[in-house]
Amino acid sequence: MTAALPALPAKIHPLVRAFLDTPGAAADALARFGSPAHLVFPQVYAENLARLRAVLERRSPRHRICYAHKVNRSRAFLRTAEQAGIAVDVASAQELAAAAEAGFGPERIEVTGPKGETLLRGLVDTGVTVNVDNLWELRRIAELAGERVAVPVLLRVSGFAASPVSRFGIALGEAEEALGVAAAQRDRIALRGFAFHIDSGEPAERVRAVEACLGLVERAYSHGLAPAVLDIGGGFRQVFTADADRFDGYVAALREALLGRGEPMTWGGNTFGFHVDGAGVHGTPVFHKYANTVPAARMLDDLLTAPLDAHGGRTVAQLAAENLLELWLEPGKALVDHAGITLARVEFVKQAADGSVLVNLDLSRDTVTPADQEVMVDPIVLPAAGDSGPVAEPGPVGVFFAGRLCLERDLITNHKVWLDARPRPGDLVVFPNTAAYHSDLSAAAASMHPLPPKLAVAHRSGEFRICPDADYEPALAASGTV
Ligand SMILES: Cc1ncc(COP(=O)(O)O)c(C=O)c1O
Repeated sequence: MTAALPALPAKIHPLVRAFLDTPGAAADALARFGSPAHLVFPQVYAENLARLRAVLERRSPRHRICYAHKVNRSRAFLRTAEQAGIAVDVASAQELAAAAEAGFGPERIEVTGPKGETLLRGLVDTGVTVNVDNLWELRRIAELAGERVAVPVLLRVSGFAASPVSRFGIALGEAEEALGVAAAQRDRIALRGFAFHIDSGEPAERVRAVEACLGLVERAYSHGLAPAVLDIGGGFRQVFTADADRFDGYVAALREALLGRGEPMTWGGNTFGFHVDGAGVHGTPVFHKYANTVPAARMLDDLLTAPLDAHGGRTVAQLAAENLLELWLEPGKALVDHAGITLARVEFVKQAADGSVLVNLDLSRDTVTPADQEVMVDPIVLPAAGDSGPVAEPGPVGVFFAGRLCLERDLITNHKVWLDARPRPGDLVVFPNTAAYHSDLSAAAASMHPLPPKLAVAHRSGEFRICPDADYEPALAASGTV
């Protein structure tokens, strides 16, 4: 790749890099299980977990990590979490069943998200902790619980000063009413504490949320309640880019291109959330999370050591300890960061009427893209084995990757990707870091294409072993059997 060309090089975990560098490993996986395929690396998950745990051990020894299962359907990740002794956060009856099947008992399960009547009915007798989203849920739990054992609940709150409005959680203005319900129904509702979840990279937002929750803890005492949990949710960031300067360089070139200067870099007039007018390119692009360079463990450490002015500068971790609060968190993407890739094959390469080069793959945009967000890391092309003939068009080439659906919008990249050479049918394409929502959040079986198989990769005794995700067992991987 010529250094001067815009590029979005992906950060790749050394284990994943070693797998991709092992001759034939990726191609063998597709030959055995079919293309495309999602690969997960539970050992990378375990490493991510160890890093978050190290921060918590140092700063807040009384803690609980609830793995947010929604980030990926993988059973291998669930089994890894279960074996590591952490808890799980589930957001549907199906995730609840998967967690139970993977070995989590009710004392290690928390249910988050908006819950309907059917799910609530299924929860009241089980002993799992219900992270309550709204007053209706709270009242309904009390009704459904009847005279049986009190249902453990957390009250999720939202609407913190200077935070954008959220559709989730009990508005702070209604928290007093919720405490009234919890106090009046204490035989049926066991208030464990307060929760929030903020999907923001802005540290001050979480600090304000912690402050608000500490205020609610005081209010709960005055209702005769004894909250013992402060759940700070998930939202701890991933690091996608291997080179922040090159990322910035790509975005700078993109802005120029949007103004009509230099080579066009977008498909179909896409502006990625930028506002373009005669005076320039304004605003924050939708893909800004791909620029992040702060790892989740540092973000967590910064939060736990953040001083709270209203509490004499004592830190979040100190205040949690002084209030006898166990600190819970619900990381999803931070645990699976770099623990997954997606493999696909080039079907054909064509030229569109405007001269754009389209590399058509055997997967669709929704297979590697969460909620239709543009993914700003470069896919990697691995030439097909035995492909030693001359390349059709040597030299760098700017391409758009296109999907297999009969939809104009099924472009896997709406931004241009520069490759060393024009790919050829049969070449393999690697999408880095797809385990966090990218592979599982939006994928549909459109045109009856089946969802790609999910495979688990383990590295033991210098070898990579691959099995269906559902068959992976951490203990077997440790013994070298899988
Ligand atoms: C309540 C709750 N907790 C945790 C998470 C996990 O978030 P993340 O993957 O950003 O850590 C989510 C994600 O939507 C969530 O809604």
